[in-house]
Amino acid sequence: MSVSEGVKNFERDKQGRAYGRPVATSDEELVRVGPGTQGGELLRRYWQPFALSGDATSQPKRVRILSEDLVLFRDGAGQVGLLYPRCMHRGTDLIYGKVEQQGIRCCYHGWLFGAEGHCLEIPTEKNETLRDNIRQPWYPVVEEFGLLFTYMGPPDREPQFPTFSIAEDLGPNERITAYRSESGPNGPHPKIAARSDYNWWQMYDNWMDPFHVCVLHFSINGPQFSPNLGILPEVKFEQTGDGVISIQKRQLPDGPVQQRISQVIMPNMNCTAGVTDEDLGRAGISWTLPLDDTNYVLFGLARINKENPPSGSAIPMLEDHWGPAHGKPFSEWSLQDHQQWQTDYVAQKGQGDISLHSEEHLMAGDKGTALSRRLFRKLAESVAKGEDPVGAGANKARRVEILAGNSLLDPETGECIAGYASRV
Ligand code: FES
Ligand SMILES: [Fe+2]
Repeated sequence: MSVSEGVKNFERDKQGRAYGRPVATSDEELVRVGPGTQGGELLRRYWQPFALSGDATSQPKRVRILSEDLVLFRDGAGQVGLLYPRCMHRGTDLIYGKVEQQGIRCCYHGWLFGAEGHCLEIPTEKNETLRDNIRQPWYPVVEEFGLLFTYMGPPDREPQFPTFSIAEDLGPNERITAYRSESGPNGPHPKIAARSDYNWWQMYDNWMDPFHVCVLHFSINGPQFSPNLGILPEVKFEQTGDGVISIQKRQLPDGPVQQRISQVIMPNMNCTAGVTDEDLGRAGISWTLPLDDTNYVLFGLARINKENPPSGSAIPMLEDHWGPAHGKPFSEWSLQDHQQWQTDYVAQKGQGDISLHSEEHLMAGDKGTALSRRLFRKLAESVAKGEDPVGAGANKARRVEILAGNSLLDPETGECIAGYASRV
């Protein structure tokens, strides 16, 4: 760059005009999820939930996971299959196949494939040994807690299915429930179906972003959660062995300190506590699962009381406060509706289909986001170098521990007086 160009740039920066700004870019290591991408290869080293148990039936379904299109089915024997959709014979889509007692039969020439891809029958060939070495590309599936998980990484690096602290020491009245939400926690409304049609990191950043709660969910257009969450918290971010936590403390007007701990666990899990004053429990766990670079779905597990399960909306407070567009399907909200009742959805979709990280200006309040991204990048680089990332690797056992939850602390001693006291 010549001196005169440098002066010109300085002038432009000083005036802050939009003219001549640099071409904006995204952090490719974060946002790309397809096979062979750095982030995609990291995500593939872990068991990922991709459907509810009930999604696997005798009617084949299309599923998209990490930019790969697959066909899901459950055969007559109860085996769940997750296969590459193009039939290995001549490429017909197995979505048109017929599910049988053992596997799925391609509609074109009737090749029968088992849940793990084995070719079990070629009805048009007399030589039965022909099929022995043939296998339709497949991925393994584990069914647990009402969710279907798959491992899409290299077979020789497949870890054991992890254990989760959420499933330990269940009370006699407690059970685990699984859910899928096709949106963020506060937008679109839990009862309004809509796709989360932007890059998964825009959601994943949000789990470590406690400050937006006071603005987006309170000051910008009125409260969306319990009033106490509108108090600006004191926040500490800390790195854990396999993720990041934020410890948020709010001095409540009536004495105690409310402590809210949120957590992200690499590579794409999070634990976020409830948003009502009554909820003093431990957080559940959820996965931000990228379907591809510009779509994601959340899958989650929560502990519920068997006798008194929550009904209706996951965020009951919103029922009465759903703003100007109350009652309309989210897809019918006008621009004006969105301008009067902003949600996580518009805030995150507003960052674009894939955010432009080179234009960001991160501040101290974004430390949790920065730490999560840094850890993810570091792990992705380690995979690219041939190493195993944290909690993964051949036959590796992993325990996923939830540290997040809500509690009340004594303002004098800092001791937990009610709620979930994790070891933090
Ligand atoms: S294309 Fe599937 S059996 Fe021929
Ligand atoms: Fe939010």
